[in-house]
Amino acid sequence: MKNIVLTGFMGVGKNIIGKKLAEELGLKFVNTDDIIEKKEGITITQIFEKFGEKHFRKLEKEIIKKVAQGKNQVISTGGGVVLDQENISNLTENGVIICLWASPEVIRERAKRETHRPLLEGVDREERIKELLDYRKPFYEKSADYIIDTSHLTVEETVEKILKCLRFKQIIKMPSLARRTLLFLRIFSRRDKRSTSS
Ligand code: S3P
Repeated sequence: MKNIVLTGFMGVGKNIIGKKLAEELGLKFVNTDDIIEKKEGITITQIFEKFGEKHFRKLEKEIIKKVAQGKNQVISTGGGVVLDQENISNLTENGVIICLWASPEVIRERAKRETHRPLLEGVDREERIKELLDYRKPFYEKSADYIIDTSHLTVEETVEKILKCLRFKQIIKMPSLARRTLLFLRIFSRRDKRSTSS
């Protein structure tokens, strides 16, 4: 099966959603930043501090090329992967690209307590997120097969949307009637809980 590649800005939830999606589909989950950290023996923040962003992008490109050659994986990519056309060509050769989107306000909220993103450290976060998101938007758009706005979705709802896109593209089959019933009941009971708690 083709790789399912998740792109999108920092903090949109590529990891948590990717892990859940991989679990649902019985695929391997890989995170390209984790592979870089393991290979280099230092964190992404330390790579940025010691060698700068340009060096990080070089390492990222090498890893993307390698990972893209595999199959049956959900690949969670770093937020800047889309800026390099060669990364996208490599990833699309054997994969479908799903971009996870979120509004700047939601991203700021989700990334609030995190300190492992060098591009968001020591700056006015709100400004930086808006600025980067504006600049990157066309790159996310043109490289994606599908874009899903996760701003108001739970992890489960986002995964369901991704599965729908994959079925539409005939990358995965329709679920059985039993599974469809189970999914319906799950979503129905979540809606029920929300309306009783509001
Ligand atoms: C980056 C996003 C990070 C990481 C690095 C650069 C970016 O990954 O690759 O800090 O340029 O947007 P996440 O998107 O997983 O935070």
